Amino acid sequence: MKSIKDFDLKGKRVFIRVDFNVPMENGKITDDTRIVEALPTIEYALKSGGKVILCSHLGRPKGKRIPELSLKPVFEYLKEKLAVPLYFVEDITEESVKKIDSEVREGEVVLLENIRYYEGENKNDPEFSKILASMADVYINDAFSVCHRAHASVVGIAERVKEKGIGFLTEKELKFLNRVIGKPERPFYAIVGGSKVSTKIGILKNLLSKIDKLFIGGAMANTFLYAMGFNVGSSSVEKDYIEIAKSILYEAHEQEVKIYLPVDAVVDREGKACCVKLNEIEDGDVIYDIGQDTVEYFAEALDGAKTVIWNGPLGYFEKKEFSVGTFSLARKVASLSALTVAGGGDTLAALKLAGVLTAFSHTSTAGGAFLEYLEGKSLPGLAGL
Ligand code: 3PG
Repeated sequence: MKSIKDFDLKGKRVFIRVDFNVPMENGKITDDTRIVEALPTIEYALKSGGKVILCSHLGRPKGKRIPELSLKPVFEYLKEKLAVPLYFVEDITEESVKKIDSEVREGEVVLLENIRYYEGENKNDPEFSKILASMADVYINDAFSVCHRAHASVVGIAERVKEKGIGFLTEKELKFLNRVIGKPERPFYAIVGGSKVSTKIGILKNLLSKIDKLFIGGAMANTFLYAMGFNVGSSSVEKDYIEIAKSILYEAHEQEVKIYLPVDAVVDREGKACCVKLNEIEDGDVIYDIGQDTVEYFAEALDGAKTVIWNGPLGYFEKKEFSVGTFSLARKVASLSALTVAGGGDTLAALKLAGVLTAFSHTSTAGGAFLEYLEGKSLPGLAGL
């Protein structure tokens, strides 16, 4: 794949697929990380004399113009961040493309309205892709986080533009993820949490052949504990995945990967949070965090790691009484002399609240794409480049 640095951008229309899918509340951006991470590529293209066209999605409007999913707040935000003329294009038509061509100058920026307002985007529609391609002399993908989507602004456009490559953010994401799954320094440990085993089977299976230890937490640990015969009370269990959980445990044993599961838990018992050993869980209890013994057990076993990958929180960290497990482990991982990589929206939110986001070697802006890449899948957005 080529880098943005491989092209002469002077006077060219540089179409950059970014991911400005940022959380918002009442039209205000509540976390600007993804935008901030895309700025180096945008600034480089501007400095190199490009006419920059920015394209992103926000949410999943599926071809409908849902006002709450407009990128206008991002436009306002960019106006403050980039001290250059900025234009907002509400509707992509042949006329608006002509207007961009004739009116936008070198060193100026156009932000297109939410690309998922168009039905052709998700369908990777050839006609729509053609219109997008007609806006670009150079196509740059700086949205690793959407590379798992075969959409028009990710795949269709890339098929139709000759000069294409990746921006600095996509390059950074790939550099770290390739270091982790390519030739990781050992020992290599993985921490996998979150609510469902069903969404993590691919990553668990692919990682087992590479890692030395696997730490499992979050609600998905319940399914494993249940499969092993523990009473998990009224906690969520994916009953359809019990056999799969067993097969993962078996596979780990075959591959000599040591599995770490919680030995105690913080449960909601009649509205009160209490820490109990696994054999003390009562029928009405709901597990929402790993307990203190588990924190110590996991922390000790993490010592000496040279590479750690983390996806998925270990508990319901949004609630203070169930946040201790995730936050304690986050601080532990951040303190290791190891390559530490984390990904997924919830995971990053937890690391941020724990105050250790920047202490990790790399925190990926991607969720689904991060998982699929670690599952060993080929991502259509990268394959096309
Ligand atoms: C994400 O939030 O992971 C990316 O923006 C992709 O969004 P999507 O899952 O709606 O395609």
